[in-house]
Amino acid sequence: MMANISEEQYPATGALISSVGEQYDPSGLDLLDRWNRHQRWFDERAAASVDPYCKTTLGRIGPAGEMRTRAGKIHSGVNFASQDYLSLSSHPGIVAAANTAIERFGVHSAGSPALMGNTALSAELEGRLAAFLGYRDSTVFATGWAAGYGIIKTLVQPHDYIVIDMLAHASLQEGARNATRNVFSVPHLSNAGVARRLEHIRRDRPEAGILVVTETVFSMDSDVPDLVGLLEVCRRWNATLLVDAAHDLGALGPTGRGVIERQGLVGQIDVLMGSFSKTFASNGGYVASNHPALKLALRSSCGPLTFSNALSPVQCAIVLKALDIVQSEEGCGRRERLHRNALRLRAGLEGAGFKILGEPSPIVPAILGDSAISRLATRYALEGGALVNMAEHPAVPMNACRWRLQVMADHSDVQIGRMIDVAIAARARAGMHLASIAWLRPESGLSTQTAAEEGSLHVAS
Ligand SMILES: Cc1ncc(COP(=O)(O)O)c(C=O)c1O
Repeated sequence: MMANISEEQYPATGALISSVGEQYDPSGLDLLDRWNRHQRWFDERAAASVDPYCKTTLGRIGPAGEMRTRAGKIHSGVNFASQDYLSLSSHPGIVAAANTAIERFGVHSAGSPALMGNTALSAELEGRLAAFLGYRDSTVFATGWAAGYGIIKTLVQPHDYIVIDMLAHASLQEGARNATRNVFSVPHLSNAGVARRLEHIRRDRPEAGILVVTETVFSMDSDVPDLVGLLEVCRRWNATLLVDAAHDLGALGPTGRGVIERQGLVGQIDVLMGSFSKTFASNGGYVASNHPALKLALRSSCGPLTFSNALSPVQCAIVLKALDIVQSEEGCGRRERLHRNALRLRAGLEGAGFKILGEPSPIVPAILGDSAISRLATRYALEGGALVNMAEHPAVPMNACRWRLQVMADHSDVQIGRMIDVAIAARARAGMHLASIAWLRPESGLSTQTAAEEGSLHVAS
């Protein structure tokens, strides 16, 4: 029997059970050679068709599409792996706005915003965005990553303190750890945890600057903090609140102002930031506030802005047009379709026994379980006609690997139904696959149970 089992059917144990954090070898003089184990591990995974990362799309982004894996396999199907929430990436009005901007301004901003990289379009965008968000002004960045990392580094000095939600995005975590050693991670969504930490810091350091950092919709869990309560806590202890609204601005809320609008806080969070890359069909990020000194502070003292080329005129034109759509009746209709699609996908997957995390949003996190079942289920989803992204440890807790499905306004009912059918079949095939190989390598501890069968999951939320 063993002779008939190919490497794909019988992947090396390491390809199914270990995680990326274990693959880097920090020893050795050669800094590049330290990555050899990492390379071998991903190649082993690719050979076993269980490396779903670094996929390449082969056409327009849309509710269905075609992509190539790193190993060179081409898969097509319904697309729940792209962050194009309002389906604007090929919208005719946006494409026309991009073309007009190219004709008028060329394609390049050719400088840092601190020098002459600002364009008529970036100036217009900063004004329009500030008005939309209810702030005095805003500053646009080349990426959301740069905005999050950069604002933290600009505001916080080594003697200051940061209190950050333990699941906040990597850009915020890295910004925090590079700004000061005084970083306190608090339990996810816990305002009580923030209050306790602020009380301790204030007791020891009455004069310290403190930045509290969280998000509106968390990107791996689709859950939302109580920002009204958090703002009160920050006011009580004289801390500054920074909120990242990457995943909901434009996509949620009656007028597209997201969770901030739903919680009645438009223009009230001390510093709001986010990304254009989810709903606004472009690279780019922003920081907005009412403080009159922040804009120039960022221009002169924020590394990722001061020493980096500005957003191009084409990107600004795209975001401006996307902002028009977000604020229009059409945008309202797109948000309604997006919301309906998210509810439909959540209900269908839940009905099939998947554990779905969080609240309805464009992100639908469907728990799969440990790395073995998740990697195989992802392989069979891709082969079965659904393009999906899988998140595994250390991005999420060890046995709570998941598909981070992303819904678009333009997904049809048929496409959502297809995603659900493929998900059910892929999970079942993965379970059978694991059952068929578990006896071969009992020492590996390969689980043959799906998350649903295990019943209890340890999910950090
Ligand atoms: C919460 C959050 N903040 C910031 C970013 C970074 O945004 P960008 O893709 O524009 O760099 C992301 C994207 O992954 C995100 O999910």
